[in-house]
Amino acid sequence: MIASFRQRFGPSQQPRVFRAPGRVNLIGEHTDYNLGFVLPVALDLATYIAAAPSSDGKLRIYSEDRQELREFDASSLATVKPTREWTDYPLGVAQELVRAGVPVEGANLLIRSTVPDGSGLSSSAALEVSSALALLAGREFDPLELAKLCQRAERNFVGMPCGIMDQYISVFGRAHSAVEIDCRSLGHRLVKLPDGIAFIAVNTMVKHAHSGSAYRDRVRECAAAVEGIEAVYPDVQSLRDVSPEQFAGVASRLPGVVARRARHIVTEDARVNRFVEASAHGDLTGMGKLMVESHRSLQHDYEVSCAELDFLVDAALALDGVYGSRMTGGGFGGCTVTLLRTEAAPSFRASIARAYERQFAVTPRIYSCEPSEGAGEVKKLETIPSLA
Ligand code: GLA
Repeated sequence: MIASFRQRFGPSQQPRVFRAPGRVNLIGEHTDYNLGFVLPVALDLATYIAAAPSSDGKLRIYSEDRQELREFDASSLATVKPTREWTDYPLGVAQELVRAGVPVEGANLLIRSTVPDGSGLSSSAALEVSSALALLAGREFDPLELAKLCQRAERNFVGMPCGIMDQYISVFGRAHSAVEIDCRSLGHRLVKLPDGIAFIAVNTMVKHAHSGSAYRDRVRECAAAVEGIEAVYPDVQSLRDVSPEQFAGVASRLPGVVARRARHIVTEDARVNRFVEASAHGDLTGMGKLMVESHRSLQHDYEVSCAELDFLVDAALALDGVYGSRMTGGGFGGCTVTLLRTEAAPSFRASIARAYERQFAVTPRIYSCEPSEGAGEVKKLETIPSLA
């Protein structure tokens, strides 16, 4: 990567390299913007940025994957406007850094990513967090503030009203652990997963076009549910505050669609906590069952699944050594995540790929989900794989 950087920006440049991982969420979907619980794992798929100061006040950003170079005046970052391109992620982050009082000077950036775009494995957050580290260039910054700043970049500049999960796990991920995040307190605890199991993500290779607007609709529907429930329970500020019992009492007062959306959130929050408990007891059957319940709830109540995801979940559940499977991430395409016995992984990969090819005439990409460290500078020399 350093060689590639020097070729593009000059042989005497001394870039530093920063890394931020993508994630797979094991359970707790669409609960983050309802201030509930999520249980993601940081992946070894990551976005890397090589960065060095430029001497002419320009911010140059080169994407190796897209083979595109873009140039901006560092002095104009406070007022730059989004263009609905990939550069909105690093620019949004730069703008939020400026707003936070961090001087962003001219720099050359070269981006290489192994997180597949549009796969639901959080390539956006990986790009945001790695951009923030590259632009901070080693300056101290509180890690929680960093995650929040990157979320603001996505909400304010990119225009996606996302929760905190993806940026948070990209910063706070840990090798060998899942991370249970409380999206209200913004604290977390590490969750050790049982031995002898693997999580595998299978990519549908589709991203349906309406996913952005559907996400916004869900955010609005959840807010409508809170408004309806608040009338009965004034202490309720988000769906996080609603117990399953309370919900049963008020559900009939809500419009049908809104009630189903809220039911997903209320039951999903409870499932995250039950999943963590099951994991602590090595109850693999229990963990798998909760994953399937989560998927059915996303499929029927929250309605963010699609034919490809449903097919992969159903096909996985019919295979040897599988405990559970569900869609992961925002939905409408992207990946499923499947819990299975480690030794069943090779035959699972072969069988699921064959089944999906037969049904959709597309070869799904398959990733093993090894819990990895969160974002930071890459200090030891290693070869960074290129997706291309
Ligand atoms: C996207 C968002 C996250 C979260 C998930 C769904 O990945 O960026 O904040 O809401 O969808 O769980």
